[in-house]
Amino acid sequence: MIILSIESSCDETAMAIVEDGRKILSNTVYTQIAIHTMYGGVVPEVASREHIKKITYVLDDALKQANLTLDDIDAVAVTKEPGLIGSLMVGVNTAKTISLCFNKPLIYVNHIHGHIYANYLEEDFSFPLLALVVSGGHTELVLMKDHMDFEILGETLDDAVGEAYDKVARVVNVGYPGGPIIDKMASLGTPTYPLPHIKLSKDSLDFSFSGLKSAVINLCHNANQRGETIDANNLAASFQNAVIDVLVSKTSKAATMYNVKQVIIAGGVAANKGLRSAMQEEMDKIGIKLTVPQFKYCTDNAAMIAAAAYNQYIKENNN
Ligand code: KG4
Ligand code: ZN
Repeated sequence: MIILSIESSCDETAMAIVEDGRKILSNTVYTQIAIHTMYGGVVPEVASREHIKKITYVLDDALKQANLTLDDIDAVAVTKEPGLIGSLMVGVNTAKTISLCFNKPLIYVNHIHGHIYANYLEEDFSFPLLALVVSGGHTELVLMKDHMDFEILGETLDDAVGEAYDKVARVVNVGYPGGPIIDKMASLGTPTYPLPHIKLSKDSLDFSFSGLKSAVINLCHNANQRGETIDANNLAASFQNAVIDVLVSKTSKAATMYNVKQVIIAGGVAANKGLRSAMQEEMDKIGIKLTVPQFKYCTDNAAMIAAAAYNQYIKENNN
């Protein structure tokens, strides 16, 4: 089954053509990061307009890369939610048009399901499976007992991890998006600053990152007022250390509690090198298989949407 998939929920205009949920025939991503950088974050109206300008070129490129035409595809999939409404509409209208004009089934995919299925591009899922979802808008521990079956065990009570990374990057003035930059800085620093590792109650699988974010902001403001300089790499390492400690310990606790066979990491923050290596170390310790997506499939892309769409389509049409 050849699926053409479309992702336009935020600031990436992406299309992919994927066979049987895993064989990637093409994967095109046009990122608007350079445009939003000057505003320090995504401007929704600008994002929608950029999607409109680029989407037909992205489609052209995806088809050319795969050496296929729209007649050759079996279904079209698109991210329906969550995301910026104007951005989503561009992808959805494109998908609807292709579906109508070429008489292809249309599969609506949830963006977070897409991030989870970026791991399916790597290997098959073994259930029960635990997904740590860490993106710009979400931080969740999700239990899966079967394909497309999601139970949220815990989630953030305030900020998402990616959001905290972006905010900290803004405070230390290093640019947007903050995650990759802070990750790089952290690898060059030592965690010398005392920051809170907020784990909530002992049994809770929920998260909270706003206190950590505020602690970083206060530390910077206080240093500023006293005329002291902050070692930005050491601050990045201290922040990342606090984030990773919380994410790894809660994932480990949930994995043991629910006796899972596999742990996966999903979402933009899955690209974090510190998180990937700390999680691998912990999973080796407790003897649970860890899967992480390739770097290019961690942040927004359409191949992951096709992987989710394929499994969703199979499940819906076999039941
Ligand atoms: O999943 P994603 O591409 O978009 C959403 O669905 O939100 O995630 C984007 C987020 C941003 O907050 C970005 O700073 C973060 O993922 N991110 C990272 C890294 N790469 C991207 N955070 C930490 N370390 C990274 N290497
Ligand atoms: Zn995303």
